[in-house]
Amino acid sequence: MVELTIDGIKTHASEGSTVLETAMEMGITIPTFCYYPGLSCYGECRVCLVEVVKGDRSSLEASCTLPVEQGQVIFTNSEKVMRARKVIVELLLSSCPNSKTLQDMAANMGINKVRFKIKDRGCILCGRCVRYCKEQMGVGVLGFVGRGTSRRVATAFDLAPEECRNCGGCEWICPVCERACTAGSLIDGICGACQNLVPVETCPVCTRCSESVGPQGHRVY
Ligand code: SF4
Ligand code: SF4
Ligand code: FES
Repeated sequence: MVELTIDGIKTHASEGSTVLETAMEMGITIPTFCYYPGLSCYGECRVCLVEVVKGDRSSLEASCTLPVEQGQVIFTNSEKVMRARKVIVELLLSSCPNSKTLQDMAANMGINKVRFKIKDRGCILCGRCVRYCKEQMGVGVLGFVGRGTSRRVATAFDLAPEECRNCGGCEWICPVCERACTAGSLIDGICGACQNLVPVETCPVCTRCSESVGPQGHRVY
């Protein structure tokens, strides 16, 4: 066991565990996208950043891949963390402007406008689908292709693979695919209006999940 301090609270954690896991056990909420329990850690989205203080220096690290260490001092919501996290959420939103999950996160963080150029790619490259297919289904037909702004998730030669078991897991596990905001474009702003609404009726479009539709056609989750 190692002893560390998170947000001013001393705690113990097993060697080999991560700062994210330890914080979650303490009831501290750190936002995540590429992390998913049961899947390998990827450390790509960076939204789970925390501040690691060592002496008079501090650095920002992805908590989902950061192993606990004896004497570590961590802050999960310092000013430095929140500033960096806001930029990351804005960047992710510029890739997926109609993701309700992202919009809600942005609204909760006080972001009401995206300063980056919007390129609706419908994917934040979190890799959850890729790892789910490989690690949970044992199929592994999804992967990343391309580089830089051309990077995307694809099957080999963009063909429907014979090995696919049509489990739907890759879509189910995607943090941005299912939850599209139906309130219109967010290019000019994030309304955050529906994040606290309660479900009022079953979604007439999709019955696969528990989506519901609120006033003015907002989807509610
Ligand atoms: S639907 Fe096919 S591609 Fe998607 S996770 Fe399942 S096996 Fe993999
Ligand atoms: S399709 Fe969804 S789950 Fe897959 S990498 Fe993109 S955002 Fe992540
Ligand atoms: S959740 Fe940690 S980097 Fe994505």
